[in-house]
Amino acid sequence: MSTRAQGGPRSWSGSATPRLKQGACPCARRGLSGMEACGDQTMEVTVADKPDIGRIARVYVEAFPESVKFFFGDSTPERVVKIASAGFHVLWQAGCGFIVARESDGDVQGYCIIAADEAEVRASFFKNAVWLGFVKDLLHGRIPLRLNEAARLAANGAVLLLSYLVAPRNYACKAGARIFSIAVRKAARGRGLGRELLKCALAFATGKGAKVIKLEVRPENQAAVHLYRSAGFREVGKVKDLQGPWLAMEKAL
Ligand SMILES: CC(C)(COP(=O)(O)OP(=O)(O)OC[C@H]1O[C@@H](n2cnc3c(N)ncnc32)[C@H](O)[C@@H]1OP(=O)(O)O)[C@@H](O)C(=O)NCCC(=O)NCCS
Repeated sequence: MSTRAQGGPRSWSGSATPRLKQGACPCARRGLSGMEACGDQTMEVTVADKPDIGRIARVYVEAFPESVKFFFGDSTPERVVKIASAGFHVLWQAGCGFIVARESDGDVQGYCIIAADEAEVRASFFKNAVWLGFVKDLLHGRIPLRLNEAARLAANGAVLLLSYLVAPRNYACKAGARIFSIAVRKAARGRGLGRELLKCALAFATGKGAKVIKLEVRPENQAAVHLYRSAGFREVGKVKDLQGPWLAMEKAL
């Protein structure tokens, strides 16, 4: 599953008239199904490689300035990129799928992080002691997270978990896939990249046998809410964290 397309408005060729290059797609090597379209153009939407994680963290820091400010104050972007990279490494090790929109020079313009089976990802976080590696890196100063920031992140997680308890029961408990994060660099928005990343993420989840996929989005995030609704997600309730409410959405696959 790898889609290449030209830059420029609405120029994604992958879903319309894909040129298949069978066996050459990274997604195919990882046993994914779905679109397997490759052309010879400039942007590729594909499964990420581990070295992409730092680039993904950069896109994250640029795309979520409010959250960055909320949790890390006026820290330098470089410090937050290091922290975000460490968090994404944890998700990688726990088995999440990382889809990227990568330019031919390797630059990442967008990403989507997805758990094809959320319960499995949670279990492997504890089973494989992924969290222990994170804590070790933290204690050895390899992750520049401050105590007050760690406390705020933990409090945020606790509020979110509590809100799951009062969320629609079958939303919080339903087994399935989950989109953890999706973002496109500001300069690359409005060209269909977000939709293409989402499409690839859905193909990733379907290829792994997921029957339902869930996500949360801020209700005021019009671009993302529109994207999800038009991709077939429906609102099933609300949850919240320290920054405010999230719209809980899901889609049958
Ligand atoms: C949400 C996001 C990933 C969309 O990426 P994108 O590449 O700009 O999206 P696309 O170009 O594929 O557009 C997808 C749809 O959203 C619509 N859209 C884009 N910006 C919009 C806006 N500000 N308001 C309403 N709709 C908008 C597009 O028109 C398109 O719909 P259409 O195909 O029906 O015309 C991007 O805006 C982003 O990175 N935002 C910051 C991070 C974020 O909020 N992530 C989501 C967290 S849940």
